[in-house]
Amino acid sequence: MSPGLLALTQKASSLRFPRKHKVAYGAPAPAVLRSGSALEPGGGRAGATTPLQVLPNSRATRGTSVEALKRDPPIDGVRLSEVVGALSFALDLTEGQPMGHSVRSTLIGMRIGETLGLTEEQKSALYYALLLKDLGCSSNAARLSSLFGADDRLLKHAHKLTDWTASSDRAKLAFKFSVPGKSKLAKAWHMLMLGVNKRGSAHEMMQTRCERGADIATMLHLPRGTSEAIRTLDEHWDGNGLPFGLRGSGIPMLGRIVSLAQTVEVFQNAFDVRTAYEMAHARRGRWFDPVLVDCLDAFQMDTEFWGGLRAADTLRAVSALEPEERVIVADDERLDTVAEAFARVIDAKSPYTAQHSQNVASIAVSAATSMGMSEKDLRTLKRAALLHDIGKLGVSNTILDKPAALDPVEYETMKQHTRFTLEILKRVTRFRQFAATAAAHHERIDGSGYHLGLHGEELGPVARVIAAADVTEALSADRPYRAGMSREETFGILDRLVREGHLCPAAVEGVRATFMGLPSNDVILSEAASKAA
Ligand SMILES: [Fe+2]
Ligand SMILES: [Fe+2]
Repeated sequence: MSPGLLALTQKASSLRFPRKHKVAYGAPAPAVLRSGSALEPGGGRAGATTPLQVLPNSRATRGTSVEALKRDPPIDGVRLSEVVGALSFALDLTEGQPMGHSVRSTLIGMRIGETLGLTEEQKSALYYALLLKDLGCSSNAARLSSLFGADDRLLKHAHKLTDWTASSDRAKLAFKFSVPGKSKLAKAWHMLMLGVNKRGSAHEMMQTRCERGADIATMLHLPRGTSEAIRTLDEHWDGNGLPFGLRGSGIPMLGRIVSLAQTVEVFQNAFDVRTAYEMAHARRGRWFDPVLVDCLDAFQMDTEFWGGLRAADTLRAVSALEPEERVIVADDERLDTVAEAFARVIDAKSPYTAQHSQNVASIAVSAATSMGMSEKDLRTLKRAALLHDIGKLGVSNTILDKPAALDPVEYETMKQHTRFTLEILKRVTRFRQFAATAAAHHERIDGSGYHLGLHGEELGPVARVIAAADVTEALSADRPYRAGMSREETFGILDRLVREGHLCPAAVEGVRATFMGLPSNDVILSEAASKAA
């Protein structure tokens, strides 16, 4: 650390950040979790793979102030950061965090990286690791939910606020310190992570999450450092983290930064900045690299920065932090890859929909092709179909995986997922054009669908084809409460839905034409899967 930084660190450490309100260790969970999974109104803004493209002659921007910096948009394509930044709001939902958590973690982590003096190459990798740290978060949701019989999002939220590596001597104190409200959910996570029982399950779930997230980052052709950071973000400085038990400098630097940044963000959001610093100091040398905590101290008194985290325009602010010389541009090919990557995140949420989005996209594209849809509309249709259920990331697996019919309250909660799909996709400038279409997959021609009750001409050809493909895939695949239906059964129901005025006749005929002559639904799904691969 430079002498200047050291002096600044010492100065900052001697001061205390003023409390906004009394520390509330016993405070209830944030409203976003108490009320289910409602999106925060106005809580964010809209925000792209092939080898990296670097924008020429881009304007250099230094510093990591939260203050939104004005930038010219790229001439060709869109910044990848704008796209994945907006989509990160969906990852927040699955992680049980208030919307904007990943973006705020990026602002904090980049400030730490700037203070530490990372290179532009390191900053670029860190930037995307912070934004996409939770790419694997959906992959352990079903396991977690079934293990505890509880809402996976609430469990994950409690986990983030729990000092689960405290030794047995300190467990009681740590429990009191770090388990707000002493909720059963938090206690369950604490017991699990302390190894009192089922530590093997904890290890398995963490490994699944970390490996899956890293694999998807690789699929997006992001820097290797990004994938490494995502794979190691739950490792701890003292070697007691998961899943690999790495220690000290054996943990990649960027992974160490992501770990600190995300935890500080959770605490500053759930409580206040002072509490977040107390947590960081309490875990300095155990969870966190001491040098990084020193870097965090260096901007403890920057009230403008910390106040800015609560501003509505954090997505614009985070866009300004991508290293100028390494701005990644998303062309159409890269946008397609982003849609496919997030379809994998969506499908990983439940074992019963393990390839649903990819299959729906493949069925819809084949049907629309047979119907003579233009190349341009086919591209839009595929992206919309891949992302149509992104709102399900905000629905608990206790509902998604329930092995019985949903009760009225659960059904109403499930129906919220199309609303979430609309809200999430609207934030992405290049996806905004099909956000409403993707969110309309449960609307019906006769107006009996949800969530807007659209009908007739309000539903265009793309929406009609996706709706037919969605029903086809859902009927053909196994569900928690029934086995997948045969082709005869599937098209028997589709024909009835057409007769009753729910589905578009032409769209259903397009789907039927696609699979005419195939022997079974297994072939339908395997064909779809191979095309989607
Ligand atoms: Fe759906
Ligand atoms: Fe669906």
